[in-house]
Amino acid sequence: MIPVNRSRSLTRGASPWSFPGMDYSDSRRKPHIIGKLVIAAFLTALCIFILKQSPGFGGPSVFSRHELGVTHVLVTGGAGYIGSHAALRLLKESYRVTIVDNLSRGNIGAIKVLQGLFPEPGRLQFICADLGDSRAVNRIFAENAFDAVMHFAAVAYVGESTLQPLRYYHNITANTLLLLEAMSAHGVKTLIYSSTCATYGEPKQMPITEGTPQVPINPYGKAKKMAEDIILDFSKKSNMAVMILRYFNVIGSDPEGRLGEAPRPELREHGRISGACFDAASGIIPGLKVRGTDYPTNDGTCIRDYIDVTDLVDAHVKALDKARPEKVGIYNVGTGKGRSVKEFVEACKKATGVDVKVDYLGRRPGDYAKVYSDPSKINQELNWTARYVDLEESLSIAWRWQKVHRNGYGSS
Ligand SMILES: NC(=O)c1ccc[n+]([C@@H]2O[C@H](COP(=O)([O-])OP(=O)(O)OC[C@H]3O[C@@H](n4cnc5c(N)ncnc54)[C@H](O)[C@@H]3O)[C@@H](O)[C@H]2O)c1
Ligand SMILES: *[C@@H]1O[C@H](CO)[C@@H](O)[C@H](O)[C@H]1NC(C)=O
Ligand SMILES: *[C@@H]1O[C@H](CO)[C@@H](O)[C@H](O)[C@H]1NC(C)=O
Ligand SMILES: *[C@@H]1O[C@H](CO)[C@@H](O)[C@H](O)[C@H]1NC(C)=O
Repeated sequence: MIPVNRSRSLTRGASPWSFPGMDYSDSRRKPHIIGKLVIAAFLTALCIFILKQSPGFGGPSVFSRHELGVTHVLVTGGAGYIGSHAALRLLKESYRVTIVDNLSRGNIGAIKVLQGLFPEPGRLQFICADLGDSRAVNRIFAENAFDAVMHFAAVAYVGESTLQPLRYYHNITANTLLLLEAMSAHGVKTLIYSSTCATYGEPKQMPITEGTPQVPINPYGKAKKMAEDIILDFSKKSNMAVMILRYFNVIGSDPEGRLGEAPRPELREHGRISGACFDAASGIIPGLKVRGTDYPTNDGTCIRDYIDVTDLVDAHVKALDKARPEKVGIYNVGTGKGRSVKEFVEACKKATGVDVKVDYLGRRPGDYAKVYSDPSKINQELNWTARYVDLEESLSIAWRWQKVHRNGYGSS
């Protein structure tokens, strides 16, 4: 229906990747302005095209009425990695879902997969819009009867946030404020918010509990912390039901192979560890660079807490289920187990079957030795436990999707 064939350039970037981890990397590359303008123009045209085609835009629809027994969830950022997996799970559980995403970083291919799986009227609606556009957001709230919001839409790379801080405060903090205003104006009373362990900064004590002081050290973590503060202050003066989930490092993909993680090629170098591992295994990059082998850990490499996206979206559904007016729940979502970068690399080699080349280098400034969660609060209060705790299994599942989607959602 929609003539899209966005494909990822595989020739790009011989630049080697380094990690630890998604939330902690850095980059010094200059943006390519022309390319960006072309992409922006293309995306805008695409958005307009999709808008014109989408049913329910312009006329009343089932999405505009509350229905007894049906919970209608607005999923912002639902074309992205985690949001698309969450939408899939909600749809499987018979929720009604509206995705709002402006495709700046997400994939129309993920939306098409979801539409293909749930074609029945009244199940899934996609609206292409920018959450920074308050008129568009207010119109969406006026035309749709949402019962709850899961707010995933954001920009989410630590390294990029240090290079473009305004982009982060704008698209995380300011957009969350706009969304809250729209929720308040239209009486939508349940919010599940995507936060991050980056809001904790560099805690002295591990594991991290929800009571660990939040002292974020980069614009990404600060923007998320500010958004949390705005939500919390507002919730004190309203009867909103709020759940704030602070994710640790997210990996994996749908075990049935329908969805995967497919960031824009130009973002990949900002580095999430599993993406780098798959790129190295498929030969897109020459190998992995591990920065720092003399940390005070068992094998000298950094320790992180890797949470599988299937477990993560399960936490969202449980949080939605337990959300109550005037109550705020704040939860770490991690496995509680720290894994070293070396362990991760070994799991990556086994999962992909490729003997990925690894260079061990000196430390990178700004990385800290250990980050892992204490998930006992969410365990006790939401009866949630991580089940995909075998790194090799999570990576094997994700690799299966990567292997058949070498161009992301651009091909299969
Ligand atoms: N991936 C992780 O490891 C991780 C860890 C902690 C927290 N988080 C949080 O989880 C959420 C989802 O992350 P992800 O990894 O799926 O990222 P992603 O980039 O894959 O998805 C984000 C989506 O939001 C959309 N979006 C961004 N700005 C928008 C705007 N102004 N209007 C409309 N849509 C917009 C993008 O197009 C994209 O589809 C983010 O809030 C992120 O901060 C992610
Ligand atoms: C998405 O939103 C950003 C602002 O947050 C804007 O710069 C960009 O042009 C938008 N893209 C589309 C396709 O609307
Ligand atoms: C975020 O905000 C900036 C404005 O500071 C804008 O230029 C950019 O396109 C926005 N959107 C994304 C997805 O970065
Ligand atoms: C907690 O979850 C487990 C596993 O899903 C389930 O068997 C059990 O009944 C749940 N307990 C409660 C109190 O809901």
